[in-house]
Amino acid sequence: MRLDKYLADCGLGSRTDIKTFLKKKRVTVNGKIETSPKYQVNQETDSVCFDGLEQSYETFVYYLLNKPKGVISATEDKSHRTVLDLLEVSDRKKGIFPVGRLDKDTHGLLLLTNNGALAHAMLSPKKHVDKRYRAQIEGVMTEDDQKSFAEGIVLKDFTSQPAQLTILEVDTDLETSLVDICIAEGKFHQVKRMVAACGKEVTDLQRLQMGPLSLDETLEQGNYRRLTDQELESLAVFGVPL
Ligand code: URA
Repeated sequence: MRLDKYLADCGLGSRTDIKTFLKKKRVTVNGKIETSPKYQVNQETDSVCFDGLEQSYETFVYYLLNKPKGVISATEDKSHRTVLDLLEVSDRKKGIFPVGRLDKDTHGLLLLTNNGALAHAMLSPKKHVDKRYRAQIEGVMTEDDQKSFAEGIVLKDFTSQPAQLTILEVDTDLETSLVDICIAEGKFHQVKRMVAACGKEVTDLQRLQMGPLSLDETLEQGNYRRLTDQELESLAVFGVPL
């Protein structure tokens, strides 16, 4: 692999940034200054350093994003901003995509990665990965609604698997509720449709958890960070190379 691509994949910057670093003699290969972006790195044997620090090549990257409302969970779109537009150019590694979709008006936890096997495992219906949402509701959610969720709600095209509805707050004057909803599926508009089937409406939806990952409350909407080592280790349950 070319040296400029190698260093860009290590997360040091864009290919243009890397060319500047090379010109400034900040890169060594096996202890010798290397200035050519075309140098072919031997990943098995070469030791590549930037400012004296050895660089390790990352095959996969993982970002935890607090998705804001108003952007779509896609990699490209002609008329809308996508979640990839929120990433720094140097972080938009080839092949990165969101693991699953949140509606345009839903905010909260979204994992972005270029690890297709992981995404496949996390989204597989067979794995029953729990997704937990906090929902603001127009209408008063009741114990009967909790029972319906627990039994599985009959929708037009499918019956949901048993889901958990936790009522956090009810305002009987305003006729609103704040609830947590945990589902193991990820069908189109699923939470909104399950709530609508109870005769109420979701007015705000935030994803708090997906499998072992939780929303980092210190991340402002629209911000993201790499997964911590601990978060990455928690993904080992999916049994794919990370
Ligand atoms: N359910 C929905 O209705 N919307 C989402 O964005 C996620 C789950």
